[in-house]
Amino acid sequence: MKLWGGRFSKATDGLVDDFHSSISFDQRLYEQDIQGSIAHATMLGEQNIIPREDADRIVEGLKGILQDAREGKIQWHVDAEDIHMNVEALLTERIGEAGKRLHTGRSRNDQVALDTHMYAKVACLDTVQMLEDLIEVLLDTAEKHLHTIMPGYTHLQKAQPITLAHHLMAYVQMFLRDRDRFRHAYAAADVMPLGSGALAGTTYPLNRERVAELLDFSAITMNSLDGVADRDYLLDYMSSASICMMHLSRFCEEMILWNTNEFHFVEMDDAFSTGSSIMPQKKNPDVAELIRGKTGRVYGDLLALLTTMKGLPLAYNKDMQEDKEAFFDARDTVVKSLTVFTAMLRTVTFRTEDMERGASGGFTNATDLADYLVRQGVPFRDAHRVVGELVAHCIAEKKALLDLTLPELQQFHPAFKSDVYQAISMKACVERRCIPGAPAPEMVMQSIQDARTRLAKES
Ligand code: ARG
Repeated sequence: MKLWGGRFSKATDGLVDDFHSSISFDQRLYEQDIQGSIAHATMLGEQNIIPREDADRIVEGLKGILQDAREGKIQWHVDAEDIHMNVEALLTERIGEAGKRLHTGRSRNDQVALDTHMYAKVACLDTVQMLEDLIEVLLDTAEKHLHTIMPGYTHLQKAQPITLAHHLMAYVQMFLRDRDRFRHAYAAADVMPLGSGALAGTTYPLNRERVAELLDFSAITMNSLDGVADRDYLLDYMSSASICMMHLSRFCEEMILWNTNEFHFVEMDDAFSTGSSIMPQKKNPDVAELIRGKTGRVYGDLLALLTTMKGLPLAYNKDMQEDKEAFFDARDTVVKSLTVFTAMLRTVTFRTEDMERGASGGFTNATDLADYLVRQGVPFRDAHRVVGELVAHCIAEKKALLDLTLPELQQFHPAFKSDVYQAISMKACVERRCIPGAPAPEMVMQSIQDARTRLAKES
């Protein structure tokens, strides 16, 4: 018979058991469920809500179940519906009468909220750790390439020269923000909901702070309806995961482009590429493509839960059982993607000569040439026009700006002097961009140090 079978005169239809049971996916919460029950039973004993000997027996029994579950020795049952009732039924089977006192002052509604709060905290910590590993690889790589010049793009057209370090540090900023978002998600999860009961608290004198202390929560929830109806902490995780996947996806897209024969900026390691079954010459960047692809899946998980939640009246509704598969999938996908991406990045070879060559083509120093004229007293708008004419001339002559002779330059404007060549070298273009946040090597080094300090201080 079901744990809730008292008021029923018929057994549940087999179709319903199969349809509404969540044990196939919420067994993943067994650790949290059992630890939560141990804390609840301990508190019930301390408060003399149940006899102390019963509390002790419950705790012992739960510890045994936990041990067996960790060793994979437990067979969960679909007719016991979910992880909460599976554990309770097993406990009573093992320790008898005392087991029936565990659920005093508690509902599955606040129990499932407790379990998912606990699980989300662990997920946030794991994800932050993966992000920190990735950021460290990026910082080390950036430090090696402070002087590696490459073209910067807008509209995927060559724009101005930057350095590889500067480009990589843009991603460090994104991943640092992702880390902040997951830390916020952690704070949202770090609130203990047990004691909310089914929806309206309980008449037993529960010591909620004590349960929070036993389970290492910083605070308790402050409204029993919200305590069981809230899934914001999962949505916080999933929206952070969506944004993080978007960043990874953009990075992957660049790796895919850079790995093409046309760009030739990177060489993916053989260990992170795959071949074609028909074209013997192929080496495809499948890992990067798959991360880009899985981004859509994480957005889908977020949208699924947002949509599930949007029309629900307070407080708990069974719809909310749908939170778990979406959340677990988002968590697994982002953690796996971060892990494989970091490993892939460690093995990428940057073709620095091709990058530098790429920077010299496409008139990336045109702005600097205009700035040169401005330094000679020419108004910027006039300088812009003169350089535009020079670029058109170069295109017709199939030359770069640096190929033009001084008399050729002076035909376009008399202010050009022999120092112009030095002023528009790629190196000078980068080094002159020397304000905070700009690509000059000393500025990028500063931002590497800032990021390192943040990682050390905030861990
Ligand atoms: N398996 C349920 C879930 O995941 C647990 C809560 C069930 N509560 C209830 N009143 N049916 O949401």
